[in-house]
Amino acid sequence: MNVLHLGRLAHLRNNPFQQPDALEIIDRGALLVGNDGRILAVGDRSDLAEQSRGARSVDHGSAWLLPGMVDGHSHFPQYHVTAAAGADLLDWLERSVFPAEARFADQEYAQSAAAGYVDRLLASGTTTAMVFGSQFLGANRALFDAAKAAGIRLIAGMTVMDRGAPESLLQTLDQARDGMERLIAHVRSDPLLHYAVSPRFAPACSPALLELCGDIHRAHPDSYVQTHINETPAEIERVARLFPERHDYLDVYQHFGLVGRRSLLAHDIHAGDHQLERMADAHCSVCHCPTSNLYLGSGLFPLQRHVQRNIPVAIGTDIGAGTRFSVWQELAEVYKVQQVQGYRLNAAQLLYLGTLGGAEALDLAHETGNFAVGKSADYLALDPLATPYLAERLDRCESREEQLFCLLHLATDKELRATFVAGQAAWVNCGMPH
Ligand code: GUN
Ligand code: ZN
Repeated sequence: MNVLHLGRLAHLRNNPFQQPDALEIIDRGALLVGNDGRILAVGDRSDLAEQSRGARSVDHGSAWLLPGMVDGHSHFPQYHVTAAAGADLLDWLERSVFPAEARFADQEYAQSAAAGYVDRLLASGTTTAMVFGSQFLGANRALFDAAKAAGIRLIAGMTVMDRGAPESLLQTLDQARDGMERLIAHVRSDPLLHYAVSPRFAPACSPALLELCGDIHRAHPDSYVQTHINETPAEIERVARLFPERHDYLDVYQHFGLVGRRSLLAHDIHAGDHQLERMADAHCSVCHCPTSNLYLGSGLFPLQRHVQRNIPVAIGTDIGAGTRFSVWQELAEVYKVQQVQGYRLNAAQLLYLGTLGGAEALDLAHETGNFAVGKSADYLALDPLATPYLAERLDRCESREEQLFCLLHLATDKELRATFVAGQAAWVNCGMPH
C-alpha cells in the first residue's frame, strides 16, 4: 500500500552554491511513497489528493521533514573513545585511539557496540553513513549486520594498516586481502550496504598494502575508497619522510590507484592548490569534519577553495575525534568554521552540505539526498514545537528560510521525532508524543 507522509518539507532541488533558488520549502507538504520505499510524488498535499487516494497516511503534524543526513566520515571502533585525551592527531591516536580500537577483537564487545553505534546514527537523523570499520573481521560483520537489522544505508570497510601502531591492530597482506574479500562478499546482495576499501592513512600503510588496496578496488569497481589526507602538518611531514619518491600526499594515493569518483578523502585542511586541481580532475570527494578539526586543533577547512573547484564536499562527524554523532549539529559548526575565515554560508548551502551534497560526494545522489521522485524516501522529522524556546524563536522569523537557518543552529536531537529510511521508520523518539 502507498503511504502519504505529511509535514513541512524542506530540501534542495539542486546545488545552491551554483543555483541560488535551489531550496524548496513546502508548508503543507506531502511525500507519496510506494511499496518499494521510493518517492512517487512530492508537493502540496492538496495537489496530491487525487494521486494518494487509498494511501495510508503518516502525519507528522508540526514537524519539518528534511532529507536524511549523510555522515561522510566516522569510525565505528571509536564509538567509546569520544572526548579522549590527545595533544594532536598523532598523539591522540597513540594514546587514546589505538587501545580503544584493540578492544574490538572481542566479538561480544564488538556486537554490542555495533548495535549501539547504529542506533546513535539513526537517533541523530543520519540515514546514510560512510564508516571506517574495525581491524577485526568479526567486528565488521557485526557492524554490517547491525546496519542491516536497523535498515540504515551504510558504506563501510575493514580499516587496514600494517605499520605505525601496536602489533595487535596490524594485518599481514594475506589477512587484509582475505578480510576485504570476505566482507565484499558479505554485503554484495544488500542494496543498502556498500564496501569501502579503507587504508587508514599513508603513515599506517606500507607501499605493498596500498598496492593491495588499489588491486582490490580495481577488481571491484563498485567499491569505494576512504582514507585520510592533509589533516595536520606533523602527519604531512611523516608522509613526506615515508614516501620520499612521491610529490605530495595526494600523489601517494594516486600512485596506488586509490583516487577516483568513488574515493572520499577525509579532512584535506592543509591542501595546496596543485593537490586541489588534481582532486578536481580525478573527480574524487572530500569530507569536512568540523568538530574533529577543532577538537584536535587540526585547523580550519578551506571550504571555499573546494567549492570554487567543484570538488564535492560531504560533512562528517568523525567519531571519535568529532564530539557529536549528529551531522545536523555539525552543520552549525560548519557555519562557524567558515565565518572565522570570512566565508558566509546561508541555510540552503548548509542543508545541502548535510544532505544532497553529501549524497553527491558519496556517488549516491541517484538514491538519496533530496525528495526527488524515484529516490528512496530517506528523511527525518524534526518538531520545533517540542521545545518552547525554539517555538518562540521561530515565531519571530520573517521567512521560512530564516526559520530553517535558526533550526540549523538551535535544534538538536531533542526535537527529532523520527528517522525514516526507504519509507520505513528506522528510529522513533519514544519520549515524544505523536
Ligand atoms: N588519521 C588516521 N587515522 C585517523 C583517525 O582515526 N581519526 C582522524 N581524525 N584522523 C586519522
Ligand atoms: Zn577519521
